[in-house]
Amino acid sequence: MTILLDALLRRPVPRTPVWFMRQAGRYLPEYRRVRAQAGSFMNLCTHPELACEVTLQPLRRFRLDAAILFSDILTIPAAMGLGLGFTEGEGPKFERPIRSEQDIARLPQIDPEVELGYVLEAVRLIRKELDRKVPLIGFAGSPWTLATYMVEGGSSRDFKRVKTLLYDRPELMRCLLAKLAVAVADYLNAQIAAGVDVVMLFDTWGGVLASQDYFEFALASARQVRERLTLNPGGKAIPAILFTKGGGLWLEAMAEAGFDALGLDWTCDLGEARRRVGDKVALQGNLDPIVLYASPKTIRARVAQILDRFGPGTGHVFNLGHGILADTDPGHVEAMVEAVHELSPAYHR
Ligand code: CP3
Repeated sequence: MTILLDALLRRPVPRTPVWFMRQAGRYLPEYRRVRAQAGSFMNLCTHPELACEVTLQPLRRFRLDAAILFSDILTIPAAMGLGLGFTEGEGPKFERPIRSEQDIARLPQIDPEVELGYVLEAVRLIRKELDRKVPLIGFAGSPWTLATYMVEGGSSRDFKRVKTLLYDRPELMRCLLAKLAVAVADYLNAQIAAGVDVVMLFDTWGGVLASQDYFEFALASARQVRERLTLNPGGKAIPAILFTKGGGLWLEAMAEAGFDALGLDWTCDLGEARRRVGDKVALQGNLDPIVLYASPKTIRARVAQILDRFGPGTGHVFNLGHGILADTDPGHVEAMVEAVHELSPAYHR
């Protein structure tokens, strides 16, 4: 159980642990088969035995050091009644996006055991089926990243509506983020109670904000989540990871937000990042997922480069800088994972 948890808590490890974002998903033929039987992505998420099956699939193929709960960050807005749908090729869409002060005022408080009971049921089932040696990562979207989907009504290129709300009505944005911070923290605490060993907050769209707005809105609300988390249930330490795509400019501030580790995208140099955060946090990342389209020989060289940039000692978890893409060759994933196994022990002697 220990290598991922040890690296996240910066305790000595025999090699660098490895897992990756979206490790269960469409690049695996066995996932596509279960997904086709289920009929839709949300059917996978809402049926615990199916969510459990796809969570375990990548661990049967690759020597990974963690499982990540199969679910989605948009389960919270779905539970709040926004009407989530996934249309093929278009991504997520909300039938009732947040467009007014009343929409924000009307957002219900959710009880994760009730509205998100299907996720917690999946956590309990995966925890039971999973080999005790491998920790289970639970997750949620950050308040800001959830707000982008809830206000835009889906994915967005320029974030026009949500940024206009932030600029014109900052007090409303703060109110929305505060409500989401409570929902996200309660949801993560419920995942911890159900058996996850690590929690990760995905702030996928933090990097689209101007610096000051990042601090005042995205990071401030991520910190509100952190303050409400119970990370020591029964004396067991649950490490918390903050992933911000495009957050490289703000590492010092992120390292002060109370998380044990920061997830980095591929634009940061790991060595420089390590110097900047010192011994405050561990670092997770940061291979460009597109490297997996290159040859296995190139992949190995790029893995070697990342291990070398971080350098000797604990505090690094190998990962991609963002989620794997759907047409990645699983053989190339294997080359990445094996390279971490083979090359990283030299950094931990
Ligand atoms: O990492 C994992 O293996 C765990 C599962 C996971 C999913 N989504 C499954 C998923 C996790 C951690 C997420 C998080 C998530 N979801 C984020 C934050 C991380 C990131 O990638 O930036 C975001 C922004 C979302 C929102 C979301 N969900 C979008 C934009 C989409 C459509 C994208 C697409 O490729 O179609 C989803 C759907 C989704 N979530 C899929 C999976 C495997 C694809 C669904 C399918 O099978 O069709």
